[in-house]
Amino acid sequence: MLTAYDFPTARILDRAGIPVLLVGDSLANVVLGYETTLPVTMDEMLHHAKAVARGASEALLVGDMPFMSYQASPEEALRNAGRFLKEGGMHAVKLEGPLFELAETMAARGIPVMGHLGLTPQSVHAMGGYRVQGRTEEAADRLVADAHGLEKAGVFSLVLEGVPAEVARRVTESVAVPTIGIGAGPHTDGQVLVVNDLLGLGDGTPPRFVKAYANLGEEIARAVKAFAADVEAGTFPDQEHSY
Ligand code: KIV
Repeated sequence: MLTAYDFPTARILDRAGIPVLLVGDSLANVVLGYETTLPVTMDEMLHHAKAVARGASEALLVGDMPFMSYQASPEEALRNAGRFLKEGGMHAVKLEGPLFELAETMAARGIPVMGHLGLTPQSVHAMGGYRVQGRTEEAADRLVADAHGLEKAGVFSLVLEGVPAEVARRVTESVAVPTIGIGAGPHTDGQVLVVNDLLGLGDGTPPRFVKAYANLGEEIARAVKAFAADVEAGTFPDQEHSY
C-alpha cells in the first residue's frame, strides 16, 4: 500500500500495480505544509480523494478519516465515511484508534473499514509527541487486545504504525485480517509508506523507518534550474519548441 494525493501520482502507482492506495491524512503534512495531521478537513480530503479516484482504475482506494470527522458522534462519522464513498470515489475508509463500536457501526452499514493502531498521528498531543508505542509488556498486550477488538468489529485490515517489530509480529500472528506496517518492522502482512517520503520529496532527515527509493526533490531542482538557465541564455524556446 502507498499513499496518493493527486491524479498523476495515482495513475502512476495504479499502473505500477500498487494494490492499495490510501488518501492519507498525511496530506496535511506532505502536501499542505502543516506540522501535524490535525488541521486537514473533510472537504480537503475529498478534493484529493476525487483526484486519486480519477487516476486509479485497479487499486483498492482507502480514504483516511481526518481528525474530528468521526470522533464527535457516530452520526457525523457515518455521514463523513459515506461522503468518501459517495463523493470521493473511495472503496473503504480508515480510522485511527480502538473505536470498536464505530468500526462495527460502519461495517454493518456496508462501509469497509481499515483500522489503525500503535502510533496514531491524530493523537500526537495525547501521546506527548510521535513516540513508538507498545514498548512495555502491558502496552503490547493492550495493542493485541485492541487488534482483536477491531477484528471482531469487522475491520478488513489493520495498519500498525510505530511499534516494535516483535509486537507487530505478535499482533499479526494473533489476528486473521491482514496487517500493514509502517515503522513496524518486517513481520506484518503488508507495508505502507508515504509516497512523498519514498520518492525523496520531503525536507530534512526522514524518520528511521523511511527508505527513499528516489531523490525526486533533487531531480526537480535540477530540472527547473536547467529551464531557468536556458531561458536566461535565450536557448529556450529554440526552433524545435516553437511554431
Ligand atoms: O495518513 C497516512 O499517510 C497514514 C499512513 C502513514 C498509514 O495514515
